[in-house]
Amino acid sequence: MSKKILVISSSLRNNSNTDILADEFIRGALSSGHKVEKISLRDKIINFCLGCDVCQNAKSCVLQDDASEIVKKIHEAEVIVFAAPVYFGGISGQMQTLLDRTYPLFPWKLKLEQTHRFQDVYLLTASSGESNEFSDKVIIKIEDWIKHFSGVWVKCRKFAKLSGVIRGLGVHEAGEIRKHPDKMNEAYEMGKDV
Ligand SMILES: Cc1cc2nc3c(=O)[nH]c(=O)nc-3n(C[C@H](O)[C@H](O)[C@H](O)COP(=O)(O)O)c2cc1C
Repeated sequence: MSKKILVISSSLRNNSNTDILADEFIRGALSSGHKVEKISLRDKIINFCLGCDVCQNAKSCVLQDDASEIVKKIHEAEVIVFAAPVYFGGISGQMQTLLDRTYPLFPWKLKLEQTHRFQDVYLLTASSGESNEFSDKVIIKIEDWIKHFSGVWVKCRKFAKLSGVIRGLGVHEAGEIRKHPDKMNEAYEMGKDV
């Protein structure tokens, strides 16, 4: 069955390793007949969440920037793919800032009415470090984000889970992931198997 997949690529550099993994994932997903939209944060203006809580009642954000459109697409997608590099042992600031801005999708006061569609979330990450510990915190971050939409921490009818992770380990230079055909293939197959 064809699914609506949203891929959010957060690295801002050219020839980004995580962006390359995202493209391989997309190639696989398209080969299986899925509908894919890719958003790069490179050309987007995404301001910090103000923490004003207005969105918890109004369900929309007071800030006028590119985040609102992206959050709307997250709301409508069936599958979300995050491509995010490791920065200082955790998720990159660009991705963290976007995740904070998804707060309008998480209305405390309307817990049972959460209407997001996504059930499967995938993570494509990359680090200079060569062992899993370098990307563990990125995985934990995404898992924690998902928990807010999955009935684990809040009472809601919807469930979502981290369905797949790719760790590009030991890749520092831009484009270096291409020297790891196993990872490229893993991303392609993961997209194909969504
Ligand atoms: C600000 C910054 C912080 C980084 N911190 C880490 C780190 O803590 N651990 C690590 O293994 N790699 C770190 N890296 C390296 C990147 O994770 C690595 O180059 C990765 O391949 C970048 O992915 P991209 O090409 O998709 O941007 C850092 C890179 C930058 C720019």
